[in-house]
Amino acid sequence: MEYVRQKIRDVYEFPKPGIIFRDLTTMFKDARAMHIVGWDLAQLYRDKGVTKVVGIESRGFIGGAIMAYEIGAGFVPARKPGKLPADTVRADFAKEYGTDTIEIHRDAITPDDVVVIHDDLLATGGTMAACYELVKSMNPKKVYINFIVELSDLHGRDNLPKDAEVTSLIVY
Ligand code: PRP
Ligand code: HPA
Repeated sequence: MEYVRQKIRDVYEFPKPGIIFRDLTTMFKDARAMHIVGWDLAQLYRDKGVTKVVGIESRGFIGGAIMAYEIGAGFVPARKPGKLPADTVRADFAKEYGTDTIEIHRDAITPDDVVVIHDDLLATGGTMAACYELVKSMNPKKVYINFIVELSDLHGRDNLPKDAEVTSLIVY
């Protein structure tokens, strides 16, 4: 995992002064890092009977699709509003400035499913907390939460439900 960590680029003062942005694109473009990440994500959930991986738009689509393929699960996109064509369930949540909304197709998850929700990165946790509640409202058997990177100084875990089982590959 040290190899993967070294491939993540620190971009200073982005998107605004004082912020160090952990840029995963430099990790995603590296073939060996992608292989390691895909394998390690899959190892976390291989034996858990997972039937659906929910990936959060847009960066959560990358690792989410790889994980789904590796563990033999289906992939479900959680999308920004107005993108999904059929009937959806939706949740609004607070962002740093204003609010945002996330949507999932209403028929994407059923009570037979065991779900992993995947995103590339945990910052404040607002996005994942909203997605978790949305998926829970569809009554699957079990819901897990997974990230590639967790920014621990933002305490995003405190905004996730206490009973949620959360994994991250890399913690800053
Ligand atoms: C980023 C990141 C997570 C979210 C984390 O996505 O990929 O989805 O923010 O932030 P939070 O923990 O504070 O909610 P962004 O909304 O920038 O969209 P993108 O993936 O399309 O770039
Ligand atoms: N990297 C990527 N996405 C982010 C970050 C970051 O450091 N902070 C909030 N979203």
